[in-house]
Amino acid sequence: MVTVLETSDLEKIYMMGNVSVHALCGVNLTVEEGEFVCILGPSGSGKSTLLNMLGALDIPSHGLVKIGKQDVRTLNDYELAVLRRKIGIVFQFFNLIDRLNALENVELPLSIVNIKGSERKERAKSLLELVGLKDRILHNPSQLSGGERQRVAIARALANNPDFLLMDEPTGNIDSKTADELMNLIEDLNKKQGITIVMVTHDQSMTKYATRVINLLDGQIKKTGEKIDAH
Ligand SMILES: Nc1ncnc2c1ncn2[C@@H]1O[C@H](COP(=O)(O)OP(=O)(O)OP(=O)(O)O)[C@@H](O)[C@H]1O
Ligand SMILES: [Mg+2]
Repeated sequence: MVTVLETSDLEKIYMMGNVSVHALCGVNLTVEEGEFVCILGPSGSGKSTLLNMLGALDIPSHGLVKIGKQDVRTLNDYELAVLRRKIGIVFQFFNLIDRLNALENVELPLSIVNIKGSERKERAKSLLELVGLKDRILHNPSQLSGGERQRVAIARALANNPDFLLMDEPTGNIDSKTADELMNLIEDLNKKQGITIVMVTHDQSMTKYATRVINLLDGQIKKTGEKIDAH
């Protein structure tokens, strides 16, 4: 088995003036290649904080975060930037650029790594096709539904062939029917494309798509669910 993510005694403390907020209190988590891990927890339990650590977007206060073979605390800014390119992140509020159409939004991470013109367009198109948006590539985000926007965000997150995908409440802002369709797509990405996924959510009904469920409460893992074979 190949370990893609590992945390050990992970703590995150936010300082608010003189008051400290313990958002994560000793999280031990290992994610293997091919898993679809769902982290379930109520609002304020530390889900986004944990996801930000796993995406190397923030640095732990104490403890270890290992992404692939790399301990994030040992990396400089340049090395962190390189590492982040191999991580696909989907945020709750889409974070798409509204002046750009769907195709251009997906092309953006490809242009950052200097993939040129026609190759970039082809790859972006095929990713949008993969997420079921072949007929919407010229629409701007404001001309798309919530579910469609999230599909664009997923296509964008996949652009640079990430080692794994992190998703923060991907269905948080869409209705339940659209959410189920989106989750079927995400499940397919895991099962058919073999993409390793870590998703956080407060919605119990989204856990059924995952191969493993972890409960987070007050910054601590409560109980690890039964592990099903990923494939
Ligand atoms: N930048 C910050 N500064 C101070 N406290 C923070 C900061 N970000 C989060 N917190 C606090 O840390 C705790 C965990 O927050 P986090 O955003 O990780 O929760 P969450 O599980 O993602 O919640 P939600 O489901 O509402 O998105 C909360 O008590 C929150 O108030
Ligand atoms: Mg959150």
